[in-house]
Amino acid sequence: MRTYEYTNTLDAEHYARALRADISDGLTRTPKSTAPTWFYDARGSELFEEITQLREYPVWRAELGLLQRHAQDIALRTGARSLIELGSGSSTKSKLIIEALGPSGLHYVPVDVSADALHQASSQLVQDYPGIRLHALRADFTASLVLPTLPEDGPRLIAFLGSTLGNFQRPARGTFLRGLRDSIRPEDFLLIGADLVKTEEEMTAAYDDAQGVTAEFDKHLLHVLNRELDADFAPDAFDHVSVWNGTECHIEMRLRSRVEQRVKIRALGLDVPFGRGEEWITERSAKFTADGLQAEMADAGLCTTQLWADPHAGFAMILANAC
Ligand code: TRP
Repeated sequence: MRTYEYTNTLDAEHYARALRADISDGLTRTPKSTAPTWFYDARGSELFEEITQLREYPVWRAELGLLQRHAQDIALRTGARSLIELGSGSSTKSKLIIEALGPSGLHYVPVDVSADALHQASSQLVQDYPGIRLHALRADFTASLVLPTLPEDGPRLIAFLGSTLGNFQRPARGTFLRGLRDSIRPEDFLLIGADLVKTEEEMTAAYDDAQGVTAEFDKHLLHVLNRELDADFAPDAFDHVSVWNGTECHIEMRLRSRVEQRVKIRALGLDVPFGRGEEWITERSAKFTADGLQAEMADAGLCTTQLWADPHAGFAMILANAC
């Protein structure tokens, strides 16, 4: 059997500590607001894969299309022999980059919080590409960005796809970009995929599909908290809503309490009150303009080498390096 290396920097203890800190802080502030990291256990990652296939969520297909058209160009421009992918999930899109770079001898480092997603994707990739050198890294790159040690030879490409950058808010987004910039060498490249601003209807529908998959994904957080923190959330006591915040230029996914209720989170010794109709922000997803994003990146010391956009689908991909 072909194998891959696996490093877990998010062991049970780290995971529990980060989860407790985020949830106790997030559910005792006004408005209540928590990090999107906790959705992605095995079931959460599976639900997210379903989201990517929804008619209402064109983001995923738009980026796939851009990669199909431009992966070869990315390979030519970067000459990368290492590919590091932040938030790799199923690694479906990475395959296009891997094939363009040439899998034989290529170092591929998928980084994700979901151990299951990493193992599933990695075992498939080493089957498909016998010469690939795969080192899976389970890490929460939103908390601390530690790039793995790789051989010094050849430029690296760090891919940050799926508009995951938009899940950071400002000013944390700038801090994150600067961290990325400081961790790359002059010959390395960064590839960022970003969803662009479109009509409010299109944007809110992308986070609230007719089949209710996104609603199930949102409420999955409650199951995670019940299991991990011995809480007693009743998922039926909440509704999923998706709201455009024009001031901040982001979509907010929210869980709205249907009734006035108190929820016990035993592992935190918390008894959390929810008013009837009170909304808890479970994820933010910023939408960009191509110029705005390039300006933010430039502020962080990242200069555009090439920008590819799909104006019809409203999605852009930027290849940049440290300047
Ligand atoms: N990075 C993706 C985004 O913000 C993640 C995502 C897509 C997502 N759809 C979602 C997260 C629905 C939560 C719920 O677009």
